Amino acid sequence: MRFHVLTLFPEAFAQPLQFSIVARAVQRGQINIDVADIRDYTHDAHGTADDYQFGGGHGMVMKPEPVFEAAEAAERAQIPVILTTPQGELLTQKLVEELASSPAIAIICGHYAGVDERIAEGLATRPVSIGDYVLTGGELPAMIIIDAVTRLLPGVVGSPESVAGDSITTGLLQHPLYTRPAEFRGMTVPEVLLSGHHAEIDRWRRRKSLERTLEHRPDLLSTASLTNDDRRYLAGLGYAPPDAGQVEGRGADHAQD
Ligand code: ADE
Repeated sequence: MRFHVLTLFPEAFAQPLQFSIVARAVQRGQINIDVADIRDYTHDAHGTADDYQFGGGHGMVMKPEPVFEAAEAAERAQIPVILTTPQGELLTQKLVEELASSPAIAIICGHYAGVDERIAEGLATRPVSIGDYVLTGGELPAMIIIDAVTRLLPGVVGSPESVAGDSITTGLLQHPLYTRPAEFRGMTVPEVLLSGHHAEIDRWRRRKSLERTLEHRPDLLSTASLTNDDRRYLAGLGYAPPDAGQVEGRGADHAQD
């Protein structure tokens, strides 16, 4: 997978992508991250990449010419061209999965008050927001996209199960995790996890996922695949699941009917 990043701040990418799983993916040649400086494609001695807004208003706007030229220099093939912007489609695991199936993606990091609309209309194919808050620029969102996509690529994360069982990928938040010691400052690991009883462990984990999802992200429950047992458990916690979206046939560990 090749990432083409177009940014006014290429130095922002030097450190953050140089450790752990993403760095290892680069070393192994599983991903390639090209960072292009948009300012290299400006046309004046000052490297002017932004200008005042037509119509007036606060904040500068990124000029179209250098961004188009930087993108054209980066790749000729038809690839998704992401524009990081609070006005974009929300980044979800589903969108990350879709992006991970492409051989390459370009990411234009928006900055200042925003980008000239012709960049959004004539160049970017996917405006993407990482959340309902406004950052100072699109560099952190670009790194988040690179990180999330990279860990889905074959062979990048040790075990495929750890990716398949991800929080959110399963439609629910992840259950709690524990490691040694079994007791720490008076806090103990739930007995069931030490029991070696795999069906009981699966059942406990499933229920903890349901509890957490209900507490922190109840919106996910309307689209998650829930068994009748899940629904009964949630009902016992005071949640009334909508009728739509019921999917049966999960693994035997979950289907208690
Ligand atoms: N630029 C500024 N805020 C952003 C956000 N929430 N998502 C993507 N790009 C942004």
